[in-house]
Order: sequence, then structure tokens, then C-alpha cells
Amino acid sequence: MCGIVGYVGTQSALGVVVDGLRRLEYRGYDSAGVAVLADGRLLLAKKAGKLSNLEKALAESAEAELRSGLAGIGHTRWATHGGPTDRNAHPHLSADGRIAVIHNGIIENFARLRAQLQAEGVEFASDTDTECVSHLLAAELAGVPGSPAALAEAMRKVCGKLEGAFTLLAVDAQAPGAVVGARRNSPLVVGRGVGENFLASDVSAFIEHTREAVELGQDQVVLITADAIEITDFDGNPAQGRDYHVDWDARAAEKGGYDWFMLKEIAEQPQVVADTLRGRIGETGEIMLDEVRLTDQDLRDVDKIFIVACGTAYHAGLVAKYAIEHWTRIPCEVELASEFRYRDPVLDRSTLVVAISQSGETMDTLMALRHAKEQKARVLAICNTNGSTIPRESDAVLYTHGGPEIAVASTKAFLTQLAACFLVGLHLAQVRGVKYADEVAAVVAQLQEMPDKIEKVLGTMDPVRELARELATASTVLFIGRHVGYPVALEGALKLKELAYMHAEGFAAGELKHGPIALIDHGTPVVCVVPSPAGRGVLHDKIVSNIQEVRARGARTIVIAEEGDEAVVPYADLLVRVPRTPTLLAPFVTTVPLQVLAAEIAASRGHDVDQPRNLAKSVTVE
Ligand code: M6R
Repeated sequence: MCGIVGYVGTQSALGVVVDGLRRLEYRGYDSAGVAVLADGRLLLAKKAGKLSNLEKALAESAEAELRSGLAGIGHTRWATHGGPTDRNAHPHLSADGRIAVIHNGIIENFARLRAQLQAEGVEFASDTDTECVSHLLAAELAGVPGSPAALAEAMRKVCGKLEGAFTLLAVDAQAPGAVVGARRNSPLVVGRGVGENFLASDVSAFIEHTREAVELGQDQVVLITADAIEITDFDGNPAQGRDYHVDWDARAAEKGGYDWFMLKEIAEQPQVVADTLRGRIGETGEIMLDEVRLTDQDLRDVDKIFIVACGTAYHAGLVAKYAIEHWTRIPCEVELASEFRYRDPVLDRSTLVVAISQSGETMDTLMALRHAKEQKARVLAICNTNGSTIPRESDAVLYTHGGPEIAVASTKAFLTQLAACFLVGLHLAQVRGVKYADEVAAVVAQLQEMPDKIEKVLGTMDPVRELARELATASTVLFIGRHVGYPVALEGALKLKELAYMHAEGFAAGELKHGPIALIDHGTPVVCVVPSPAGRGVLHDKIVSNIQEVRARGARTIVIAEEGDEAVVPYADLLVRVPRTPTLLAPFVTTVPLQVLAAEIAASRGHDVDQPRNLAKSVTVE
């Protein structure tokens, strides 16, 4: 969950590293720190709190060498072991001050390692698991003349002693011009420059310098100098990374005039949904997913589908279930990834497990997919991050084309995940022959209308912004929906919880009368996600009854309903109109007002919309 940057080259390492940390701050913002190699010295600066605290301290620092060093590492932290204080901020030094280490992940055997080191007389300066690594590296290098190769060898030996998940970067005061990295179950990517090289948790950290990246494999050590990138496994055998070109540029990772990344990402949704569909639909409306690497026979053999995911991605899975079962008639279950492997799910070779993840690094989802593979199921990843661990470990991958999502609250990832899931569902139906070509083409045509419809919703959000100002003082907001509107209600509540720190809950509207309706008090805001009256009239009529039930008990109803739906008018205290959309595809349009509502309420309450408290974008611990 932490962000990591390393640099060796001809520019000021401090400048490159701090710029990189700014782009990675979404990964964690409990503290930030840097270590720079300059004139044979290892210089350190670190501060609790957001990166701005560190930047302030650096601006006031008298250490001119900090700016002159050409190699360095930097870290932005999401605290696990040890509170978010200056002393627990990374980098962590060895006792002799020779080695500095930064780390993302959890070293599970750190207590034993720490006890051993303390028994040998090492004094610890922090409460972190990471600090063990600095002392272990120093022990490996004791008496060894400093060199890049010696540092890499020490890192390999230390990795052999570590259990858990880690990305580590280290520098040695006696090996100027080198940064060594290692990874197990945690992301690390190399940026290949000209006369300079980079290491980072993700490519956004170095995208303004190079778009050429190298994906590292599991259990690898990488050594970068200004002119070379050397990769080995933990035993020292030479290894290859996978070179790839990043197809977006630095502007995509900037706010572009918006106050918050989240607002920019909400506004990008028409484009990224179109991008995710592009190239995957043939001239006659057939689905073309050759890139997915599952043969037609593989797909014909599937007799059960599990979708595993967390948070917003889980909600995308819940929506997808309705479409996949409806189109393919294959049973589809959706599971929270963190629960999946603990309940012994029934899996075999004919089970398709779909792992949905924006970051591709979510540890709960990764562990669920590993469990599925152990049970011989096939795993298809739906992912936004090229080269990340989840697609790499899956049998097949369908990338969403969302571009970088920086705000911690997921928005455009959700809609692109829906688009990708719907493509998978239609592809399965097409390959298995359960839908005629013209039926698939008809749904495809509806899908292709989604970008324009989302755009239309975005153009009508002023009443939602006004409502947000009114709801900013509410103590609770409830969301109800039926069918695919139920996961939309869950998603609306999740957004509000994580951004506004308010009590918010989503319910299947039919469940209200079984308990939750007791929560309704005079004036309680209830956001009602109403399905189209066309197609499934019963569904619509039932929720209109549910709206009346909550209104009769004093609720203030905020009704999201499609244009022309007059039946809801008498029961809506505020009516938010969305374009007419077939029932299964409605989440593309009904989710958008809920995203805007949460962002605007959070802003009205004075919260940091992009970096809500206690959270991190990429959750790489279980
Ligand atoms: O990167 P992933 O899609 O695997 O992340 C899953 C969740 O952690 C994520 O969707 C989280 O719930 C968001 N912060 C919600 O806005």
C-alpha cells in the first residue's frame, strides 16, 4: 500500500524522487521520506503526515548535498507496523548509517528476526518490520567493500530470510550510483531511461521521464545504475523482465484543471468506457476477445463462474452476475475475495474464476485467485494495470482501459469493469451459442450508447451538487435499489462512507421491511435507485411501493429514475433524471450521480476528496 521510488541518473535524485512520490501519494499518506547518495554520504529526510510536510522540511533544510545527489530512494507510507510517526517513517537506516531501506508490504517473520538481531546487540530506532532489513543488509555487508554487485548479493541473501510480502529498495553509502530492489507478492516496476533508470511501485512515478517499462517477475532482485538494469532471481540466476511501452502520458496522471482527481476521473467516464469497448467489437456487432487467451473450447467447458473482488470491484461483480447469468445461463457467484479461500469453495477445471481489480495488486484478490488456481480452476483477470501481479498470475486477462485512477475512491474503474464484464458475458454467450448473433449485436449496440448517456448524466449534475450541500450535515444516508440497482445502492453508500465519513448503508429495497426500515426517522435521506419501467415493469412497481413505504415513515426521498418515468414523481422529494437505459445496463448511468454526490458532500465537509483518512488506493496486505 506504500509508494516506492528509486532513481539513478544525471538529474537531482531528490527532485525526481519527490515528484514520483507526489504521483504515488494515493498509495498511502501517513508519512513520507527520502534517502539520497551524495559525495559518499547517505542523507536522509522524513516526516510524518502527507508529502507536503516532507516538502516543507526539505525546503527549510540547509543540506545542499541533498539536492546534488544523483541516486536516491523515496517512500510514502500507509502504516502497518508502528504508528504514523517521524521515527516510523521510511527510509530506515542500519545502525552504522551505511544502508537505507524502504519497504512496501509486511514481513511476517519480523518479530523473530527482530529478536535475533536484538540478541546480537542491535538497537532498533523504530517499531517497523522494515528496519530488520536494514540491519540484516548491514550484517551481510559488514567488512565487504561497497559495490553495486555486493549490495545486490546482500539483498538476495536477506530476501532468503524474509517471509511475507515485500517490495524493498536499498542504497549503500559505499556504493554510490546504485539502487537495488527486490519483490515478492508486492509491486515493483523498472523505468528504462537513457543514462538514467527508475524503480517504482507503478509507472506513474516515472512517466514524465520515460514510457519504457520493465515488468519484474516474482522473487526477483533488480539492480539499477545509470546505464544498466540487472535482474536475477533470489538465488542469483540471471532473469528476464518483460519490456513494455506505457501508452498514456504524464498529463493523464494530472488534475487537468479539476479541484480533485476524483472529479476529473468521474468526467473521464464516457471516454474510458468507450476505450474499454474499442477494438473488441466487430463490424457486425460480434464480440472479439482473442486477446484474452482462453480458447473457445475453454469457454464451452465452463459450467460455473465465480467472480472474486473487493470494494468497488466487488460491486461491479455483483452487477455482472445479473448480466452473465441472464445471457449465458451459467451459474455465477460473486464473492468477497477476502472470504473466498476460507470457506472451501467448490472449484474444478470447469470453473471460471473472474478476478476483478483496478490495481491488479489487491492482496485479498490475489490470494483468492491463487487458491482458485491450486484447485485447478481457470482464472480470468479483469484489470486496469498493465503488468501488475493479478493479470500476471492469471490464465487470461482482459484489460480495462481506464488510464491511471489516482483518487482513492474508485469511479471510472467501476464503469470500465462493468464494460469489461459485459463483454465477457456476451462473449461467453456467443461462443456457447446460447444467444443468436443478432441478439448479441443488439446488446452491443446498447453498450455502445453508454458513453453518450454517461456524458448526458454528467451534464445535469447541478441539482446533485446543490443537494450535497444540504446533506453535508446529515447523520446518515440510506440507499435502496433492486436487481442491478442493489449493487449500485451498495456502491453509493461505499462512496459516501469512504469520502464523507458518514453513516451510509445500501439495501436491497425488498429487505427494508425485514429490519432496516426501523432506521428511517423524520427527514432521513433515502436515495432510491429506480429501474426502467420498460422491460421489467414488476421490478419498477415494487420499488415504487418501497419508496412509498419509506416516505410514509418520514424519509426524504432522492429518486434516481429515467426520463419519462412519471410514476415516481409524486414520491420524490428530489428527482434526478437519467437517460432511458435497458435494465441491465442502467448502472452505467445511475452510479454517476452517486459518485458526484459523495465527492461533493466530502468537499462540503472540508475533507480531502482524493485521499480519505485511513485508506490507501492499493491494498497490498490481507
Ligand atoms: O484495486 P482494486 O480494484 O482491487 O481495489 C479494490 C478495492 O480496494 C477498491 O475498489 C476500494 O473499495 C475503493 N477505494 C472504493 O472506492
